[in-house]
Amino acid sequence: MDIARTPATPDGNPEMADAAVEPKASAIIRREDYTPFPWLVPQVHLSFELGVEQTRVTSRLTVERNPAADASPTIRLNGDGLKLSELQVDGEPCSTHAMDGDDLVVTLPGERHELTIVTQIDPAANSQLMGLYASNGMLCTQCEAEGFRRITFFPDRPDVLSTYTVRMSGPAAQFPILLCNGNKADSGGDGDTHWAEWHDPWPKPAYLFALVAGDLVARSDSFTTTGGRTVELNVWVRDGDLDRTEHAMESLKRSMKWDEEVFGREYDLDLFNIVAVSDFNMGAMENKGLNVFNTKYVLADQETATDGDFDGVEGVIGHEYFHNWSGNRITCRDWFQLSLKEGFTVLRDQLFSQDMDSAPVKRIEDVRILRGVQFPEDSGPLAHSIRPDSYREISNFYTPTIYNKGAEVIRMMRTMAGEEAFRKGTDLYFDRHDGEAATCEDFITAIEDGAGLDLRQFRLWYSQAGTPKVSVAVTHDGDTAALTFKQDIPATPGQADKQPMPIPLRIALFDRESGKHDGEHLVMLDTAEKEVRFAGFAAPPVLSINRGFSAPVTIDRAVSRDDLVFLAAKDDDPFARYEAMQDLMVGHLVSAVAGEMDSAERDAARQDIACAFAAVLEDDRLDDLMRGELLMMPSQAYLSEQMLLAEPGRIHEEREALKAALGSALESQLLTLHKRASALPFALDQAAKGARKVKTVALTYLAAAKPDTASDLAEKQYSGADNMTDRQGALMVLAGLQSPARTGALLDFYNRYRDNPLVVDKWFSLQASSLHPQVLQHVKALRDHPDFTLKNPNRVRALYMAFAASPHAFHAEDGEGYRMIADLILELDPINAQTAARFVTPLGRWQRIEPARSALMRGELERIAEAGNLSRDTFEQVTRSLG
Ligand code: ARG
Ligand code: ZN
Repeated sequence: MDIARTPATPDGNPEMADAAVEPKASAIIRREDYTPFPWLVPQVHLSFELGVEQTRVTSRLTVERNPAADASPTIRLNGDGLKLSELQVDGEPCSTHAMDGDDLVVTLPGERHELTIVTQIDPAANSQLMGLYASNGMLCTQCEAEGFRRITFFPDRPDVLSTYTVRMSGPAAQFPILLCNGNKADSGGDGDTHWAEWHDPWPKPAYLFALVAGDLVARSDSFTTTGGRTVELNVWVRDGDLDRTEHAMESLKRSMKWDEEVFGREYDLDLFNIVAVSDFNMGAMENKGLNVFNTKYVLADQETATDGDFDGVEGVIGHEYFHNWSGNRITCRDWFQLSLKEGFTVLRDQLFSQDMDSAPVKRIEDVRILRGVQFPEDSGPLAHSIRPDSYREISNFYTPTIYNKGAEVIRMMRTMAGEEAFRKGTDLYFDRHDGEAATCEDFITAIEDGAGLDLRQFRLWYSQAGTPKVSVAVTHDGDTAALTFKQDIPATPGQADKQPMPIPLRIALFDRESGKHDGEHLVMLDTAEKEVRFAGFAAPPVLSINRGFSAPVTIDRAVSRDDLVFLAAKDDDPFARYEAMQDLMVGHLVSAVAGEMDSAERDAARQDIACAFAAVLEDDRLDDLMRGELLMMPSQAYLSEQMLLAEPGRIHEEREALKAALGSALESQLLTLHKRASALPFALDQAAKGARKVKTVALTYLAAAKPDTASDLAEKQYSGADNMTDRQGALMVLAGLQSPARTGALLDFYNRYRDNPLVVDKWFSLQASSLHPQVLQHVKALRDHPDFTLKNPNRVRALYMAFAASPHAFHAEDGEGYRMIADLILELDPINAQTAARFVTPLGRWQRIEPARSALMRGELERIAEAGNLSRDTFEQVTRSLG
């Protein structure tokens, strides 16, 4: 792709280069254009006169020349849709300023100045949910990545660090609680108006600023750090939600303890606030001392949250808390370095959850997410490296690649170094760069120096996109087994040729007779091809490869079904065992879809899979959480990835057919399992969680084979449920069946929970992603339901993300599903561009889909592109997706 270069402006802010001449939508920002900002902004004083429809913001900035940057006669203050009400320089009205597009450019003659800037904003009209906005009568902010410029004119870039003092005032009845970053310094009131002043001692970039004003109540607790600091903890929610905050608070305390123990990181303020907000674009935000969360990741109790929801709360609470060091104390120099904080913090939250719950199951879940979402991204038109080279809209780069692949890349460093040495590396990183806006390169160097690794070639993982394919062949001669490895990294947009990368593969060679291996090896595949020999094998061994998913690659090997059955039963690495089960099913489904099997072959394959399932059902050394994983079918998305051109209809058919075959072959075992698991009373421990998991897994297989039996069982599970996991699992099964119980259960669920938005979201999702043949009609009807609104991202995602992930309806042959998503994008784009742009991804898969559907998908993308007036977010995603 040939795109004109955009030179940096004299004051070194490449983002706004040529803003006046180029339409907003076409400005491309490049990593190589980075230059430091010519001004330092050591102090920021903000004063907010709060109102839902009108908020007046007075900003007082101390600015001084940055000795480390080229001097500039002007300072560029970013704005986004702001109107300047007043501007003073050193206390005098200013006459030397001009607007450049949305930015304010002020000429400054001296070394040091004070700027006073007044803006007026309307939070109620802010449907983008970036900057200061109203949600249910409260006011809150979201500034990452570039939301602060919607509040006041400011150098809105992560390498400008300032100390903030903030005053808020407003009607006490409407906003009884006033929160900001740091500590509360003072407060007071006169009559109906009150105010609070907050001070954050830690210098921070503007994206970490936050303010909340509203009628909130808190669950409070405290935590004492190893260093003896007592920290007040609050989880703020709306009145009525308080009894669903216990898990969030416990998760927070566990996170704080864990980060001290595992990474040696202590909290650094006397106060830590979490606020739950129901209108939120993402999961949560790590603003210094004042994390703002989507309610979805705070509120949880037995009645309304599933076990998965509980895990989600724990993981996201951990994630945002861990950002205090990996993100806040050390932030990013520019947004190309996003994975510096996100990849590392995802790894930290994954390790935290592994330690809190079942480590093997957590690892399997994380790999499932990676392969279900990131691998498709890496093999499609939106593929980018974990440190991208360019973007138009940074919001589009909060991706599974930056987050999840970013975490995998750092996890590989940990695998290569070993835990102890890796910790030395992270200690050095935190120590060396504390207080700085750093780069991925800084991180890599610190790990090299601290952990004693040579990561010269490994740096390619930061610049090359695409999922490497590793092929491996095993040969046996005399007493020696030889493994021949090859790696191949597919071309991705803008990157035709790739160099070999170091790929750490944990392997083991099993003796077929004894079912054992004599130790694991770490093979470093760092060349295009490599042969590794192992002596001491009288007979050909069975290879267990990429154990623990030690590298984010795909493995291509000729492996017999016998060997897979062997590994599925015997492998002592839980991930590898899961993988053998997956490979067994993937191998069968891929050939079945390709029509490569006659009916005898198909029966034989299904027979083998059923045997492996039976072994898993009977293996009493397995806990149910792990059993549930081993019985999980590969997802439609993952299966599609295995094919050059996916046929969604055929994949769905074959996948359902296999499910039905397993359901009938194992009917009695599945019924026994369901019965055994149902007998266990509710508890939050792993045994009870596992029982709930296998209960619903059993139902899904039975539903495919014996819909009537399954419907009865599901109906009983539904009405007898004393927790959301069982109730939702049963309803999911019923929603997919054409059974008389379906409508009643859905109606009951809605009436029971109609006042709880998070549960109503589940009600929308279950119907939009169901296996029912009429999903399209259901989604259309739900679109007109009085509870549906385009203003709330959770609700939009509940209906339409679930739908876009549903294989049979989204990929309806006549293109109706594609049309619905395109219509949604066009309608949502002016309201909430960031959320609208996320829906381009499913349509962007067109290159990997069979020709008829592919043309329909592309047609919808073209229709969006031609609509004109698109947001920068959607414009960028549609343009890239069209290729
Ligand atoms: N830093 C946040 C997190 O991952 C995500 C915020 C992203 N916000 C956005 N508007 N793209 O924890
Ligand atoms: Zn994050």
